[in-house]
Amino acid sequence: MTALSVSTSSAASLRADALVIGVGKGPKGLVVADGAEVVAEAFEGKLAEVLSTLGATGAEGETIKLPSPAGLKAPLVLAVGLGDASDEGYGAEVLRRAAGVAARTLAGTKKAALALPAVSAEEFEALALGGLLGSYSFTAYKNGENGKAPVGELTLLTDRKGSKDAKAAVERAAALGEEINRARDLVNQAPNELNPKSFAAIAQAAGKEHGLKVEVLDEKALTKGGFGGILGVGNGSTNPPRLVKVAYTHPKAKATLAFVGKGITYDSGGISLKPAGHNETMKCDMAGAAAVFASVVAAKRLGLAVNVTGWLALAENMPSGSATRPGDVLNMYGGKTVEVLNTDAEGRLVLADAIVRASEENPDVIVDVATLTGAMVLALGTRTFGVMSNKDELRGQLHAAAEAVGEQSWPMPLPAELRKGMVESTIADLANMGERMGGGLVAGLFLKEFVAEGIDWAHLDIAGPAFHEGAPYGYTPKGGTGSAVRTLVRFAEETANA
Ligand code: BES
Ligand code: MN
Ligand code: ZN
Repeated sequence: MTALSVSTSSAASLRADALVIGVGKGPKGLVVADGAEVVAEAFEGKLAEVLSTLGATGAEGETIKLPSPAGLKAPLVLAVGLGDASDEGYGAEVLRRAAGVAARTLAGTKKAALALPAVSAEEFEALALGGLLGSYSFTAYKNGENGKAPVGELTLLTDRKGSKDAKAAVERAAALGEEINRARDLVNQAPNELNPKSFAAIAQAAGKEHGLKVEVLDEKALTKGGFGGILGVGNGSTNPPRLVKVAYTHPKAKATLAFVGKGITYDSGGISLKPAGHNETMKCDMAGAAAVFASVVAAKRLGLAVNVTGWLALAENMPSGSATRPGDVLNMYGGKTVEVLNTDAEGRLVLADAIVRASEENPDVIVDVATLTGAMVLALGTRTFGVMSNKDELRGQLHAAAEAVGEQSWPMPLPAELRKGMVESTIADLANMGERMGGGLVAGLFLKEFVAEGIDWAHLDIAGPAFHEGAPYGYTPKGGTGSAVRTLVRFAEETANA
């Protein structure tokens, strides 16, 4: 893993393999961003000109490498585009992405120094987090040649005045970044390795390491407890399901949050089997549970003054002679019955049990996180998650929290009329499928049925952003992204500071 450090040395005298500077797009052409003054001096005032000659425009994500002139100890300068130049700073997300791009571009080098425009603690944190996330790579299954090693060390340059803030910011970013990368690792693990049992074991080991209480219900305990939703989804697989509870408590906490994660370690669709073309990436269907687990560990590492309980609803959705059939009726935890019309709508079944169980402990808020519907991806694209809630204010708060940490989300409604198709014409209390139109909202409405009266609840459908199939960009790699961890942690922070 890439190490982060802070230095008050001058960019000129620092021993590093590369110096990273920022360039923006100004009204009159390329603008060298603050932080690069010493580098500009070494180029004798011609830095912008040299970069323009090489084709630099300052567009976001652009990278240009230059050999250093005399006067700089580092042999290489990397200029990263920051987009439109502004007098009020470039914004945290631009800096996060720029640091991510720099870390990716400089893979294979030992030490890089960031001379990017950061002054506030928030800006330093953004650089550190972007750098850590951008240097992520998943090589667990690669023998021999596995590409360039991540940058060994990223050093943030600061003046003496800002160094204390910068150091604190870097520590926070390291805790958060490592947890986001933990969520990514879990998502990237192959589904023949990560099953409900091994996921639970990983949670237990990490919980022990960080001093968190982890309880695991195995298939016997789930049967005894009457968790018909989780069992109904898991019973087609030779890998039995689990429900994991991970608890973080703080002595000064005034509120308790419950985070519930969908943890389908592989979603084949079950008897309602997915066709080829729709099942290759379905190891990502536990990204909600991964985000929840990582967020609880992050809350602990950051020492937030709030109680956070994570619930991981883990199952593998497979077809077999023992699998749930379309037409079966499940006795859910808490007593409701559900007619399974489509075994591929399995996420809502495991989540329903977990939401009822979470409700029993009477938390102030429940937030569930799930790669729940293809419909949400159709609605919002692959980079934005949907936010639904039984309380407008909470939906707004989560959307704003996501925005504040650079995660794209959008508030979605739970229209009452869509509930009808879900309840009527069934032989049970509910069916697990309703109208096709607005399928992401129907799924949200289904979950809402299982939240106990009086508890504020929100649902994040991360089916789009959880797994990135395109080329890497900013600090986002191919594969697991760690979607929703930052939003959950921010929400926990806001609750702690309320
Ligand atoms: N895990 C899928 C949703 C999904 C789709 C996640 C694309 C990530 C990317 C979920 O279990 C599912 O299959 N949903 C069905 C529901 C339908 C049968 C009502 C869907 O969206 O098609
Ligand atoms: Mn499914
Ligand atoms: Zn699924």
